[in-house]
Amino acid sequence: MKEKERCVTKSANFLRKIENHFTEIAPRYRKLRTTDIEPILFIERELSTADRIHGADIGCGAGRYALRLVKYLGKKCHLLYCVDKSGSMLSHLRNLFVEHGINHFKILHSDAHKIPLETDSLDFVVSFNAIHHFDMPNFLKEASRILKNKSRLFIYTRLKSQNERNVWGIHFPNFAKKETRLYELDELEHMIENAPNLSLKSIRFFEYERISTLARLEKQARGHHYSTFSLFSKKEFDSSLEVFKKNIMENYGDVNKVTWKDQNVLLVIES
Ligand SMILES: C[S@@+](CC[C@H](N)C(=O)[O-])C[C@H]1O[C@@H](n2cnc3c(N)ncnc32)[C@H](O)[C@@H]1O
Repeated sequence: MKEKERCVTKSANFLRKIENHFTEIAPRYRKLRTTDIEPILFIERELSTADRIHGADIGCGAGRYALRLVKYLGKKCHLLYCVDKSGSMLSHLRNLFVEHGINHFKILHSDAHKIPLETDSLDFVVSFNAIHHFDMPNFLKEASRILKNKSRLFIYTRLKSQNERNVWGIHFPNFAKKETRLYELDELEHMIENAPNLSLKSIRFFEYERISTLARLEKQARGHHYSTFSLFSKKEFDSSLEVFKKNIMENYGDVNKVTWKDQNVLLVIES
């Protein structure tokens, strides 16, 4: 039933809407989102014995995690393929990498389910905050195909229940309800179990103490920093935003010190 519901949700119209969202938001994306270094440090440690490795970041967006990853992996990373289906996101990634003097990367304007890379060609694959946009069984199949034997797939995401517990899930009406694409851990475990030649090696939970201002939060929501906001009609969004502001004012004495916890999970999968 769950799988059926997801198929219905991701109709052609829905996918076009999300694609338009990413085209529109690409110039502002890196500024609107908060980037955490902890998953990068974890991945770097996991790959610490590797040398001259080739990897891919699937659904890399404007490159905020890809940049940190190549920097932390240093010389160990010989080549990173940056894969995304949004040309606009990729052009911002290219500018970012050039600005930072990084040239050991290749851009692949491609779908996560059909990546133009050879079978058994990569030492690692990462995906940050993107799997809820993919058709997971097909993405897992494709990641398994391009990965060499005994190499790693790292998936960083927030779970559906983690999304319900963040500042938006708690205080922004219908935010958690509209976000039907995220998974729970057991669903991910089940899909990995059923994927060809993949096995779940470990799971790492992350929790971040956040502090922000109501003004910044309002700017992020108006900028649709989460694609969830593009699922609201303008009218719904405006009325939810008003209730959000009221909730924040009622729940926090100081609107310049809004605090909450963000949670994420990192799955380490072996091919
Ligand atoms: C929420 S953004 C995350 C971007 C980046 N990983 C980050 O954390 O900043 C999701 C990205 O996945 C891309 N995406 C969505 N569906 C995709 C697909 N089927 N194939 C490839 N990329 C896709 C979008 O274009 C977008 O850039």
